[in-house]
Amino acid sequence: MKNNGKFEIVGGNKLYGEIINQTSKNATLPIMSASLLACDIVKIIDYPNISDVHNMAKILKCLNVNMTFEDKVMVLNTKNAIYNDINCDLMKTMRSSIFLLGAMLARFKHATMSLPGGCDIGARPIDIHIDAFKKLGVKVKENNGLIDFDAKVSRAKKIKLRLPSVGATENIIQFACLLKGKTTIINAAKEPEIVDLCNFLSLIGAKIFGAGTDKITIYGVDRLHGGIYRPSGDRIVAGTIMGAVAVAGGDVTIRNAVPYQNLNFIKKLTLMGCQIDYKNDIIHISRENPLTSIKEISTGYYPDFPTDLQSIMLAVSCYASSDTQIVENVFERRFLTVKELIKMGAKIDCISDKEIVVKPSKLRGNKVKALDLRGGAGLVVAGLGAKGKTIVNNARFVDRGYDHLEEMLSNLGANIKRT
Ligand code: EPZ
Repeated sequence: MKNNGKFEIVGGNKLYGEIINQTSKNATLPIMSASLLACDIVKIIDYPNISDVHNMAKILKCLNVNMTFEDKVMVLNTKNAIYNDINCDLMKTMRSSIFLLGAMLARFKHATMSLPGGCDIGARPIDIHIDAFKKLGVKVKENNGLIDFDAKVSRAKKIKLRLPSVGATENIIQFACLLKGKTTIINAAKEPEIVDLCNFLSLIGAKIFGAGTDKITIYGVDRLHGGIYRPSGDRIVAGTIMGAVAVAGGDVTIRNAVPYQNLNFIKKLTLMGCQIDYKNDIIHISRENPLTSIKEISTGYYPDFPTDLQSIMLAVSCYASSDTQIVENVFERRFLTVKELIKMGAKIDCISDKEIVVKPSKLRGNKVKALDLRGGAGLVVAGLGAKGKTIVNNARFVDRGYDHLEEMLSNLGANIKRT
């Protein structure tokens, strides 16, 4: 993948044109993991060409999964996959590899993993994953930073999650597909990425009911088979492009935009003065008049306002006509970008580590740095409306989830380049 690099943005250009949105990072990653269950050939069409996908591929290669990347098609041959400890460097590179655990336990009946550890946006504990596996009879033993999981004697049953964790839901679904009997997950995550994963698993022979609701039932089967699947559009990347139009102004059509997965965000931008209409998988967004404002944004579990679009809304709120209160209820360290925006002249009051108030600000370009994936994208969006040049360092953070964000935006008329 690209070296670290930086984005250089000169604000002031409006955005016009049409863009085809990439497929979902947070659907593609668990589907890559679930391909282990097929013991066959799986093809993922239109996969997003982002570093998190390539890091997941590196991890799967450690398990002897044969992978090829043809034009827009990822081919995973998991027939000859073998067990291997996931080395801690790879785990630390991408903590979301934790949901490989469910697939590995289903296929190999045991796994040793290092604690994935925290990341930029929070401690990212895995207690809910561990508690759920234990309830399904998996033996869990910690020994100096590593955790051994033994699933030889496990049994299907009803389990309730302490909170609707996306990763934990994905882990248990994968594990239960090949677990004899009926497993029910109460308080399951309802994110669209869960639906995508379950659509894929059903395609390869799994028996799953209730995906997208808070109660998911999985009937274990003896074996699964290969298949060809195209993940849905990335709702967070589509939201990022919409945020860019809200800041820069203009008129843009986004295809593969999954509008029905972003209704909360669309409503908020509409209230702020954007004109948005959508049909099937197309979103049309324009903004000609100055942004007005909305009083409050409060993130939550789907279908509440998505935490992954909080940094984008943070950037948009700088250009609003009055104060915006932003409350982050999902992750404990998701305001890292505030101090970088303040370098650009943003007026932001920090009320607590969960709550800030963004005041109308006249942003001007400055040298700033991406500190996490979505925060980095937020800084790029903020730069589109700032006076002068903004340099966003640590572009590698943004490359984790965006397939050439600079190309997406320059194709719409933004003055942005990658250096
Ligand atoms: C997934 O992370 C996404 N990542 C995140 O997107 C997204 O922000 C998050 O879901 C919430 O929607 C992927 O899908 C790869 P959680 P995940 O488990 O599964 C706490 C992005 O930018 N928790 O739903 O790790 C946790 O600390 C990324 O694309 C526990 O306490 O999220 C957090 O506060 C960032 N114990 C909350 O639950 C646990 O065992 C939600 O986490 C697990 C989670």
